[in-house]
Amino acid sequence: MAKSLFASGQRLQPDIVELRENVLPDGPVEHSARMAEIARACWPDGADRWTPAMIETLLASDNAFAVCRPDGFALLRVSGEEAELLSLDVLPEARRRGLGSEILREALHEAQARGACEVYLEVDTENAAALALYDRAGFVTRGTRKRYYRKPDGTWGDALVMARFFGSDDTDRAQRAERSDS
Ligand SMILES: CC(C)(COP(=O)(O)OP(=O)(O)OC[C@H]1O[C@@H](n2cnc3c(N)ncnc32)[C@H](O)[C@@H]1OP(=O)(O)O)[C@@H](O)C(=O)NCCC(=O)NCCS
Repeated sequence: MAKSLFASGQRLQPDIVELRENVLPDGPVEHSARMAEIARACWPDGADRWTPAMIETLLASDNAFAVCRPDGFALLRVSGEEAELLSLDVLPEARRRGLGSEILREALHEAQARGACEVYLEVDTENAAALALYDRAGFVTRGTRKRYYRKPDGTWGDALVMARFFGSDDTDRAQRAERSDS
């Protein structure tokens, strides 16, 4: 098993980093089920966004990993020097307590440790909470994908492509934000 690179995280298996506080009691399969449950609670209109099987398949691949807590998780995929944040979900009742930031911070550390020079993501232009969180974490807007999301009412919404570069001014900005959090 790979040695944990983090003071706060332990590795349940090479591709699941579990933040130490309030650890989940079971193994990788239970983690996948819990992540799917959290995703369902966060996206009630997209029940099949992440199923346990989809998460297990993803984590079985060489380059994907998860950061988990009982109330939230992130899923990422690293391809060479680029990592993609596929999902960052926190249960509604656990929001605005810093958990999303903590999971994201750990995910960025892990992506960097795996060789990524940048992390990118797509976010709904109307998702104010996520936009504020990513801005605070040092992500910058790279572009727009028009008509990218199908909304529950059948209309289409746009997505922003955002990226966080390691070792640039963005990193300094994110570190300042992290310091002001603590
Ligand atoms: C986006 C999300 C992960 C944030 O999780 P969280 O645990 O509430 O985030 P944090 O508590 O760490 O918030 C950090 C900062 O982000 C910003 N933020 C978070 N939620 C916000 C909201 N509803 N409105 C405005 N800003 C918000 C604030 O700047 C906040 O700092 P503050 O609480 O000191 O003001 C959570 O709202 C979520 O799961 N949403 C549904 C799923 C989703 O949209 N995921 C992102 C897909 S791209």
